[in-house]
Amino acid sequence: MAKSQDELKEMVAAKALEFIPAKGIVGVGSGSTVVKFTQAIAAQGIKIEGAVSSSNKTTELLESIGVKVLDPNSCEPYEVYIDGADEVNDDFEMIKGGGACLTREKILASMAKTFVCIVDKSKLVTTLGKFPLPVEVIPMAREQVARRLRELGGNPVLREGCITDNGCEILDVHGLTITDAKSLEDKINGIPGVVTVGLFAHRGADVVLYATDDGVQQKNKA
Ligand code: 5RP
Repeated sequence: MAKSQDELKEMVAAKALEFIPAKGIVGVGSGSTVVKFTQAIAAQGIKIEGAVSSSNKTTELLESIGVKVLDPNSCEPYEVYIDGADEVNDDFEMIKGGGACLTREKILASMAKTFVCIVDKSKLVTTLGKFPLPVEVIPMAREQVARRLRELGGNPVLREGCITDNGCEILDVHGLTITDAKSLEDKINGIPGVVTVGLFAHRGADVVLYATDDGVQQKNKA
């Protein structure tokens, strides 16, 4: 029977519990799938030594279920980062940042040995770009960054009413068909005033867990 997106997110969140290391810290992302992951941790009574968190909201959630949240500055690189995505392609490259947490997500992903991406099947794509690409920008650079993004073929739109946990703004770039994600990631990161682009190509996922009506499937990067 066809499952709702909410049910699919619950399924994949429950499966992700298997990736929590027995010892050491875990990196936790942001978004509605991650909310379900934290709920599953609480429901199963799973003990976690500590966590690093990609957003103020995730920090609140983790603390509310008794997980100690650490400052990444006080942590060494760690085993597993678990997070959702807005789009994932066959090369394990992702668009992230629908929840405006892309910068902290990228930092935590860069510290992890294994990135476990948890999605429902609707997030799997052949070509990235249908989901508008989030770009976090320093507010005084917004218009100049937008000009440069237009030169790259995109149509940037300011995400109204959104200030990130870092005090910055988000431009959502519509109309891109991303055939070379690594190169585009480099180009956008090179624009003065860009804090982070939500393309996770250089540091993509290592494991993709995706929920389907028939259960959760797993793909491992070769
Ligand atoms: C937040 C993110 C999320 O992982 C992404 O938006 C997916 O969210 P959801 O689990 O709600 O579908 O990148 O910045």
